[in-house]
Amino acid sequence: MTAQVYLNGEYLPLADAKVSVLDRGFLFGDGVYEVIPAYRGRLFRLEDHIARLNNSLNGIRLPLPHSVTDWEAIFRPLLENDIDQSVYLQITRGYAPKRDHGFPEQVVPTIFAMSSELKPFAGRTSGIKAVTLDDTRWQRCNIKAITLLGNILLRQEAIDQGGAEAILVRNGYVVEGAASNLFAVLDSELITPPKSHEILPGITRDVILELAAANNIPFREDVIALEALENASEVWVTSSIREIVPVVELDGRLIGNGKPGPIWKRMDDLLQAYKTSLT
Ligand code: PDD
Repeated sequence: MTAQVYLNGEYLPLADAKVSVLDRGFLFGDGVYEVIPAYRGRLFRLEDHIARLNNSLNGIRLPLPHSVTDWEAIFRPLLENDIDQSVYLQITRGYAPKRDHGFPEQVVPTIFAMSSELKPFAGRTSGIKAVTLDDTRWQRCNIKAITLLGNILLRQEAIDQGGAEAILVRNGYVVEGAASNLFAVLDSELITPPKSHEILPGITRDVILELAAANNIPFREDVIALEALENASEVWVTSSIREIVPVVELDGRLIGNGKPGPIWKRMDDLLQAYKTSLT
């Protein structure tokens, strides 16, 4: 069957889904997005993803009236019950008759959604190499904006250096990855930077903190200095797509013994069990 996608109220084959070259998403990157896992047809933490979407939409002054139920109804035809998928949702400020930085008078948002098969990320169990880089992104990283040039260039720089993720540094503190949140284990305590305009409030991050609280794993939301990370016994990067990924080598130096650590193992088991309990 040809993959169907959703575009502005219609379901159609991917090849037939077209938007104007004057769409502000195309011309300005003027839009926001979400990536939502669906395990065996069940959307994971949909309410949380939609709450974050609404924050992003409010952040770019493009609020939409859709409820969680409305979004669920839009996604349902894109889901399959026998595989794991990720749903990509993108909303832009739509077509405008001329290219102008200021908002157009009439705004009809472009709403696009597609699903693709979600395969386990190999680095999740083996661990990955990462490199630290200066965070050259903007000041509103809590908005999940489609304008991703900063993130893309940083991720590619990490790849060019032989890593799978860039860990970003602002004013001497590590904040998050190019497409992931960051956790470190320091003196047996799990630490992640607090929510702020410097990071995307990750849904996986929230789930991990809930699981830590429910299972007596000591944790704290706190800033992490770059030097502290160098002494961490474990470092993880987390996202909906890759889940909890141990960093086993950072800037060419091994983290711990260079293998995924025991707290990662515990948390990964807890997350897998939590996912299974929902399906
Ligand atoms: N990115 N920080 C950034 C900058 C991200 O791009 C992402 C996810 C995260 C983790 O958020 P979550 O746990 O909700 O996936 C943190 C998605 C997967 C992407 O851009 O494809």
